[in-house]
Amino acid sequence: MILDLSYKYLIKKILFLFPPEMAHIIVENFLYFAPNFLFKNKFSKSTEITLFEKKIPSPIGIAAGLDKNCKSTNKYLNMGYGFSVVGTVMKNPRKGNPKPRLIRLINEKSLLNSLSFPSDGSKVILKRLKRLKNVKDRIIVSVSGLNEDEIIQNILVFKGHCFGFEINISSPNTKDLRKFINPESVHSIITKARNITDAPVLIKLPRVKNLEIYENILKAISKFNKTGIVIANTKPISDSRLKVGNGGKSGAPLFNETLKILDYLRPKFKDAVIICSGGVSNFKDAKKLLESGANAIQVYSALIYEGPGIAKKINKQLKNSRLLN
Ligand SMILES: Cc1cc2nc3c(=O)[nH]c(=O)nc-3n(C[C@H](O)[C@H](O)[C@H](O)COP(=O)(O)O)c2cc1C
Repeated sequence: MILDLSYKYLIKKILFLFPPEMAHIIVENFLYFAPNFLFKNKFSKSTEITLFEKKIPSPIGIAAGLDKNCKSTNKYLNMGYGFSVVGTVMKNPRKGNPKPRLIRLINEKSLLNSLSFPSDGSKVILKRLKRLKNVKDRIIVSVSGLNEDEIIQNILVFKGHCFGFEINISSPNTKDLRKFINPESVHSIITKARNITDAPVLIKLPRVKNLEIYENILKAISKFNKTGIVIANTKPISDSRLKVGNGGKSGAPLFNETLKILDYLRPKFKDAVIICSGGVSNFKDAKKLLESGANAIQVYSALIYEGPGIAKKINKQLKNSRLLN
């Protein structure tokens, strides 16, 4: 075995000495205070995609949950991520579930979490978002709520300050969201959202066994302009290492299922916007999803295991592959 002493390897080793949430706070604060010039990245024309009629410099974006409070957004966008999903944002500040609620499964390159939306609250997050005017066209805000009106209220707060919205009805840590997983509820939420905004609206769906559920929801939303789905959130699990006993699994083990859902849906909905989230760790994974018709890809767990430079690496290989041309 070759001894890897690169500084990136050492940083990862040091961060892994801390509990996962503590490591996250260290990285978040570093990114918050670090000067922008440290993260300069030049995008190539050949990684550009068009999403809801807007040019986005790379199909690789940050998934919801990593930058819940809009503290690192511009740094990620400067590092090579084409877009970033901020949130999930809740109206009022929330502590989330008791700890432990985030666990690394290092051998599987996976995470278990039962966070349940800890949030600084929409007022504070809006203040931070307003400072990012020059990149707002690459920011999607993830909102949720326990009823339709709460979701719509959250959209109203951020209207005009971001490119679009992702409605999270899929967190396995918030049981009340399950009532939205049907075509009628999704139709009703999008109708209400359309009454207040023309911005793109994505619905982030959970992992379900019955693939017809995705099909019926996609049918219900394809009547609206500028809508799409994100497949899919973390996989629901039970695990006694989490204080509340259950949560969601993310990372590499999710990849095959993500691809399977996409392969089922894409031939049926040629023009629908389908964004993939779940298990993408490298260029090979990204290539498979893009070849199967993903409009874009979101990553979270890979940043923990491969480092935040993963977008830059994928972009470089995408550029050489000419896959997007
Ligand atoms: C610690 C953690 C927190 C998350 N929080 C959210 C969230 O607030 N909202 C959401 O829609 N998804 C959330 N997710 C799910 C991710 O956005 C993503 O869909 C999932 O992790 C699968 O992608 P990955 O395999 O690249 O991690 C979270 C995931 C993790 C690991």
